[in-house]
Amino acid sequence: MKLSPKNKIFCALDFTELKQTCQFVEKIKENVGGIKVGLEFFFKNGIKGVESLKKYNLPIFLDLKLNDIPNTVSRAAKNLLELEPDYLTAHLNGGIDMIKSIVDIKMKTKIIGVSLLTSLNDEDLKKFGIEINSKSYVEKLSKIGYEGGVDGMVSSSLEVKDLKSKMPKDFIFVTPGIQLGKNKNDQKRTTSPSEAIKNGSSILIIGRAITNSENPNRTLKEITLQLEKNGN
Ligand code: C5P
Repeated sequence: MKLSPKNKIFCALDFTELKQTCQFVEKIKENVGGIKVGLEFFFKNGIKGVESLKKYNLPIFLDLKLNDIPNTVSRAAKNLLELEPDYLTAHLNGGIDMIKSIVDIKMKTKIIGVSLLTSLNDEDLKKFGIEINSKSYVEKLSKIGYEGGVDGMVSSSLEVKDLKSKMPKDFIFVTPGIQLGKNKNDQKRTTSPSEAIKNGSSILIIGRAITNSENPNRTLKEITLQLEKNGN
């Protein structure tokens, strides 16, 4: 998937209140390619909250990271897919049957598999009793995603580099853990916007670097400029 530099930037709207979320989208809508809402927003505002974001005519990335037995996930996903979000996420470690149970009913929504959270690294895997490194683990999850029929996956861009050539051309690589300055927040596997695109990421998910910025539009324009300068 080839998007213009601006359209590659999806802002993670990690807010609780609908009013605050809408005010923020109103402010930045000209400078982003899409908006992402997740658990924080959804647990407060639900389906109606997501519906009210449709008026901005921006792609909606519904990041609810579904993970349960196939029957439960499929029935939950049905409720969400009726909303027709542009993207919906599910954890790839829910297994291939769980992934297929969503893909089978997806209609227009793109199903994006979440691999290893960017807040985790090799040390965390060891604590789970997993002895392979994060790159190999993400590669294994990518196979589950591919066989399950997902449209794309979420990982750090450090893994995209190797996976890009193994996946179909239109496979969507979604990358959070984007670091602008020195502040990693709680993320561990981070890259800069340009580095991520160079590695092959299709969509960059950027949250706090934009939402906590003193001037979110200036930050967004700087990121776009950085991508344009690097030929991304
Ligand atoms: O503030 P920051 O840019 O770190 O936000 C990243 C966003 O991406 C958060 O909303 C988080 O839920 C999401 N995300 C992530 N790692 C994943 C999938 C999604 O950080 N693997």
